[in-house]
This record gives sequence, C-alpha cells and structure tokens, in this order.
Amino acid sequence: MSDEKARPGIEALLEETRQFPPPADFVAKAAVSNTSLYEQAENDPEAYWAAWARKLDWILDFETVLEGEAPDFTWFADGKLNAYVNCLDRHVEAGLGDKVALHFEGEPGDRRTLTYADLLREVCRAANGLRSLGVTKGDRVAVYLPMVPELAITLLACARIGAIHSVVFGGFSADSLRDRINDSGCKVLITADAGWRRGKPVPLKATSDEAVAATPTIEKMVVLERAGVRHEMVEGRDIHWSDLIDGQPDECQPEWMDAEDVLFILYTSGTTGKPKGIVHTTGGYLTGVSATTRLVFDLKDDDVFWCTADIGWITGHSYIVYGPMSQGATQVMYEGAPDWPDCTRFWNLIEQYGVTIFYTAPTAIRAFMKWGDDFPASADLSSLRLLGTVGEPINPEAWTWYHERIGGGRCPIVDTWWQTETGHIMISPLPGVTTLRPGSATHPLPGISVELRTEEGEVIDEGGGYLALNRPWPGMLRGIWGDPDRFVRQYWSFWDDKVYFTGDGAKRDGEGYIVILGRVDDVISVSGHRIGTMEVESAIVEHPAVAEAAVVGRKDDITGEAICAFLILRDGFDHSPELRAEVQDFVGRKIGRFARPKDVLLTADLPKTRSGKIMRRLLRDIAEGRALGDVTTLADPGVVQSLKDRYQAEG
Ligand code: WT7
Repeated sequence: MSDEKARPGIEALLEETRQFPPPADFVAKAAVSNTSLYEQAENDPEAYWAAWARKLDWILDFETVLEGEAPDFTWFADGKLNAYVNCLDRHVEAGLGDKVALHFEGEPGDRRTLTYADLLREVCRAANGLRSLGVTKGDRVAVYLPMVPELAITLLACARIGAIHSVVFGGFSADSLRDRINDSGCKVLITADAGWRRGKPVPLKATSDEAVAATPTIEKMVVLERAGVRHEMVEGRDIHWSDLIDGQPDECQPEWMDAEDVLFILYTSGTTGKPKGIVHTTGGYLTGVSATTRLVFDLKDDDVFWCTADIGWITGHSYIVYGPMSQGATQVMYEGAPDWPDCTRFWNLIEQYGVTIFYTAPTAIRAFMKWGDDFPASADLSSLRLLGTVGEPINPEAWTWYHERIGGGRCPIVDTWWQTETGHIMISPLPGVTTLRPGSATHPLPGISVELRTEEGEVIDEGGGYLALNRPWPGMLRGIWGDPDRFVRQYWSFWDDKVYFTGDGAKRDGEGYIVILGRVDDVISVSGHRIGTMEVESAIVEHPAVAEAAVVGRKDDITGEAICAFLILRDGFDHSPELRAEVQDFVGRKIGRFARPKDVLLTADLPKTRSGKIMRRLLRDIAEGRALGDVTTLADPGVVQSLKDRYQAEG
C-alpha cells in the first residue's frame, strides 16, 4: 500500500444521472428478465452455484460444494471432470459438431472457419502431440503465441491431458517470458515464428530463443509457422507445430481431473517488482465462467460472440476459451490491430460475421471515438444486440458514444468488473433486468457479495471506500504459484477478518449502484493492462545511466492511465532527449512494448517524506499538472516546485 490509501474518498465524481432501463424487446427474449435469481442466490448461494455446476458434465458428481476457511476455500472438491470435454466433446456428442466454434480472421485477411468437430479433432491431435513430448498431468506448459486458433487449441490440448498452461501475452519481452517460465518451471514452450500486427510480423521465435537461453526447465519448444518468417530451429529441442501434430490420431483419452486440480496459471502485476502467478483450478472456475457467460451476455444458441481481448490476458481465457466454448458459442476471433488496414476493420468484421454480442475495452472505445464516427457508420452494425466493456472504468462520454454509435441506441451495455484473480465477472448488469447508468458496473451478480469498507474495516453502505469481496465464489484464485505467504499477505490481510481485498476503490449510491474508481495501490492500468509501478521502476534502474526512479500513473485520454517516470541520473550522464527515448525503449525491451513509459522526466531529486518514502501522490499531481498537494511532510519542499516547473517546461 502506498501513502494514498484515502484516494477513493477524495476523488471527485462526475454525477451521472441518466438511466437506461432494458429495452422491452430485449427483455422479452432475455434468459433472465426479473430479479428472482438474485433472491434465489441470496437465500442459498451454495445451492445456486451447485445448480450451475451441475449444468456441466461431471465424470464423478460432487457431493461437497464449498469447504474450507479463508483464504483456503475449495469448490466441488470431491467431483471429477475435464474442462476440455466440457468445452468440446459434449457439444459434439449433443449433435452440435457442425456448429461453427470460431470464425477466425488473420490480420492479413486470411480466414478459417472451425466447427466444434474440427476443434475437437485439432485439439486431440495437439494433445497427443504434447503427450509425445512427454507432457503429463501437472506439467507446466508456457504459451507465447499470436491470436490464432492454435492459441485456443493449445490451451484446450493442455486441459485435455491435465497439463497446466501458463500463457504469456505476445507483447511481453524475452526477460518477462523467461521470468514467468522460471517461476513455474515450465517444461515446454509453445510459440510461433511471428504474429501480425499493423502489417508487420512481430517476431516471437527469436524472443523465445532469447528467453529460453536462461530457462533450465524447458525441454522442448514447439514452433507454429504463422507468418512465414525465417527462424532458426535448435536440433533436438525445437519442433514445428505441423510436425508435432502430423500423423497424430484424431482421438485422445482425456485426463480425469479433480475439481480442484490446477487448470492454469496466469501472471499478473502486483505492487512489488515480481509478477504473481495466479492459480485457477478446474471445477469452480469452469462453473463461474460458464454461468456468467450465459447470464451477463444472455448468450443464445444463434448468437455470434466477439470478445476482442487477447487470450494472453484473463479476459481471453474466460470469455473466449472457457466461458463461450463451454456454452457451445459461435465466436469471432481476430488476430491484429483495429486500425489495420484502416479504422473500419472491426466494424467490417461485425458486419461480415453478423456479430450479435461485442465485448471490448474502454480504451478501445476512446480510440474509436477519436478516429471519428464515419468509420462505424460505414458498416452495417444492425446485427448487434448487446455490448460489453471490461478492464477499467468507462467514462460516461465514452459509454454514451458506444451506446449510440455502435449500439444504435438499442443495445444494452454490460460494464463488467472483475480481475485476473476473480476468474469471472463479479459486478455487472444483467442486461434483461438492470437499469443501466453510464459509468456504473451496477450491482454484484447473483451469488456474489461485495462490501465497501474504510481502511479500518468498517462497512460503508453509501459513499466511497475500499472494494472487498466478503463471500467466496467458485472461480476465485486458489493461490499464487509457489508463494502461499504472498497470497495471504496480498489479498487476505488488509483487514483482520480475512476478507478479500481487491485493490480497487469504489463508490456506492443509495440505490446500490457501484462506480469503480480504480486502483488504490501502486498498480497502473494502461489500456486496461495492469502494470506495477515497482515493476517498471526495477526495470528502469537496471539502465546504466539511472541512479533512482519513481513511476506513477497519470490520466490519459485514450489509455485511461499512462506511465510517467521520474529519473535521477548517475553522475557523468547528461540529460538529453536521446536518453529519454533510450529509457523508453529499455523498458519496452525489459518488460514489453505496452509498458513503455509515455513520459520520462529527468530530475535532480525526488520528493520524499522524512522517512525516505517517495511521495507518489505529489508526483502524480505534477504529472497531471495539478496544483501541489500537502507538502508539509516533505523533506525538501523545494524539490517539488522545481520538478513541477521542469515538467511543465519540458511538456
Ligand atoms: C483490474 C483487474 C478483468 C479483466 C481485465 C483486467 C480494473 C476491471 C473494470 C470495470 C472499472 C475495472 C480494476 C480491476 N477493472 N474491470 N468494469 N470498471 N475497472 O484484469 O488485469 O486482472 O485487472 O482492472 O481495477 O481490479 P486485470
């Protein structure tokens, strides 16, 4: 926690009073159209979740539902199932083999349609291929792929044979990939030659080679040939994807999994320099994502669902792979950038595939707004019936634009709040029930319970506070890989009564509408991607010219927040524009392109308290050009004024 725990209380909020009840024709067809589900779930949350769990196929039915004490809960622990079988076999067995699972479009325009039967076959072959490499239940498999069908296929192949996948987003650097592989001791890395982004191949094999130079546990590297980029293969270690699956049988015996067997690890940033491997298990996670896919997206058999997230983040795990596929949905999957070859790309995809449900991030919406109304207006978007957002607070202006320009004023918008740790959506409207208010994620879903609390743990009914989750939920994280102490410290120790602290501040009004205010800890959200300030600072100080660094988030019109770095140079290094650019690139190489600081300010000193703690709140005030806050606890108040002058002069 930083020095600004009180942020949610002091944040001024735009009063948003407009209300949007669900349209009558939407309600008429909605899966849920009244509030009885909330009451039912509230009367007996365990029975409510057990009923959702029983909609899945279990090899061995469970008798226990929720067991344990905070933070060590288990769900459906004596049941056995296979996540993959629930995503594919059962649909094919139910006669849905010919239903389209994925309409894939690559950035260069290449297209592939995969039915559920196609996917089942492809996944079985990949699973057999992985088994032939010696991958067995419980082994960790690192995945570093572009957004192509093989990414989804790889996850499901791991699930089929009980291997634990750890996906690393393709925008991460070699160092980040290496650290994640080493933290969980992955045995195999699955990558590609390159992926396409804005007309250029983004190399992945070369980055993988660099990472794997220092990963003792990696035995094999599988390389998908996606972009036709020349690459080196290491004899005995590397194998092409096509060779891996060549000649493999179309059938593959699935591994039986206990509900509490680990399904995957996904790394996310925290308040220290070291990313956390968030652990999710099988039965509860699958129950949570499939229930929320049905409820929040009102998913029907003939819907065409498009979630624009990358599978490298939790949104793609939960709402491309496990949620929609466990529900037998037809989806659109797109590899590249929204503005390639021009800004109509997304809208053309919606028209072409008749997308009915569209789920994206506020940062994308703000970019669409900036590009202008002509682009969406040039396509027929009338197939859309429901819109969603995730990842960061959506400002009412962007909400309104999304509602009118994309949704034609007729589509409800589900503003969904959740986290890598929660596994599935927690706070969101039900589109056939909830009256919407722009900027509010509205209420906790049925079965979910939240609290706003003061720092001391006092529960607040109305007003701002810290967002806490005070009741276990099936998709909850089961731990941090290899670090049980950090798990307890990070999430369950903020108050004495072992309630989960989300790290977010929020505000609730008299009618129970929740507005998420953002992180209260030292975590920045750039385009909805979480980056720890410490992580960026530790990267920066590795640069030979840098003596000390302080990183804060500042508001940004498009990305929500932007990274702003204040640096003190070592003696003998001069302030220069070149050095700034070098530091930006350096961070890009160390962590990943998306973590490059937008602003780099070279300074002679940093504002610190008398105890030597950097005053981030003041730095943020400076970065956002605000009047200076309270400087009475500052060791050298002059530092701040000169920093501020300099920042404004350098722009
Ligand atoms: C953090 C979680 C959940 C998938 C994407 C991000 C912020 C998430 C919302 C929303 C306001 C949101 C929170 C949260 N966040 N959804 N609808 N409104 N803020 O996953 O990287 O684990 O980040 O994203 O700050 O704690 P993540």
